Amino acid sequence: MLEDYRNKVFNEDVLKVLKYLPDNSLSMVYGDPDYNVGINYAGKNYTQKWNDYINWYIDLTKECMRVLKPDGNLFMMNYPKQNAHLRVKYLDDNAFNVNDYVWVYNTNVGHSAQKFTTAHRSILHATKSKNNAFYKENVAVPYQNPTDKRIMGRIANGHTGRMPYSWFYYDLVKNVSKDKTFHSCQIPLPLVEMLLKSRGVYEKYTAPLGIGWMVNISHHYGPSVDGYEYMKWGTYHRANHTHIGVDRTRNGTGYACQYDPYLADTYDNPKTCPENLLLFFHRMPFSYRLKSGKTILQHIYDTHFEGAEDAEEFIRVFDGLKPLLPERYFDAVSGRLEAQLKNAREWRDVINTYFYRLTAIGDESGRKIYD
Ligand SMILES: C[S@@+](CC[C@H](N)C(=O)[O-])C[C@H]1O[C@@H](n2cnc3c(N)ncnc32)[C@H](O)[C@@H]1O
Repeated sequence: MLEDYRNKVFNEDVLKVLKYLPDNSLSMVYGDPDYNVGINYAGKNYTQKWNDYINWYIDLTKECMRVLKPDGNLFMMNYPKQNAHLRVKYLDDNAFNVNDYVWVYNTNVGHSAQKFTTAHRSILHATKSKNNAFYKENVAVPYQNPTDKRIMGRIANGHTGRMPYSWFYYDLVKNVSKDKTFHSCQIPLPLVEMLLKSRGVYEKYTAPLGIGWMVNISHHYGPSVDGYEYMKWGTYHRANHTHIGVDRTRNGTGYACQYDPYLADTYDNPKTCPENLLLFFHRMPFSYRLKSGKTILQHIYDTHFEGAEDAEEFIRVFDGLKPLLPERYFDAVSGRLEAQLKNAREWRDVINTYFYRLTAIGDESGRKIYD
């Protein structure tokens, strides 16, 4: 039943959505609800009388605790006063353990002659048992003295960084900052679009369909068709003139079986395996037709052509943003985008040529492939 809710966004009242979910079903809940401080979201003001708000906040948290797995973690972010009430009136009596973390929110609004401004938010972390799954090593922060002898010893023993404290500090762009632009949203929209597209574009010309990843060994800039093919690291493509990919299903290496059964079954079947992972989990003929109707070979040609075109488009878009961006950022990023275009074109030509020679099947659109 939980499958109906996986990877979906619901534009509905949060309490209603929570009611759909079974008990003990989520590994983590992170609540960042309205804080009842008079803010309008999409034209709607959620502010209510204090007691009504706290009762609603408690009801919300009760539901969050109900759907949380016994080893899960609940986080509720709010102003310190709202969270103090939630903690004392509900969480302390009902959670196994409660911790209060602080987000240092370096704001310069709300000053008055009589008090300091509230420049922090509270994040309550509640658990249901002593066995909560917590992956602290994954959020280690860089060591501040990496050349210190003791720290070097820790790094040599595999530690990735300092364990975070119970407070987090992220600097905000202030009105007086030299990085502040006149643009109403600090990051111009075309730049946000570029950031969102960027990974997909890189994937198009480096690793379409999960075949990865034909790169120069070590530095990884630029293509090498057999880069890691005969190394123990195993980014193999195993292409011959008819087939490509590695069978990692239960009939092959069994790699897919390591996942949760739902995902293992999904990956095991080429019809349900997400196509961006198809050649990672399956060995397929180049002539296999994807959901788009294209053959695997044509998809590889197309994505390499598109990737290089997209990298070119990024430069055009970024040039148009020059007046909006601090010069030093503009220059640094422009140089990188030029390098990306050079890499993308090289990838397009080398990889497409490789597959053309291997299969002797040309591009359906007749574009230039170097032979
Ligand atoms: C503090 S903001 C969260 C911002 C979000 N975490 C982010 O970083 O973009 C609170 C959000 O909760 C939404 N909201 C308020 N009441 C809600 C309700 N009853 N059900 C679902 N969403 C609600 C508001 O529209 C607003 O977008």
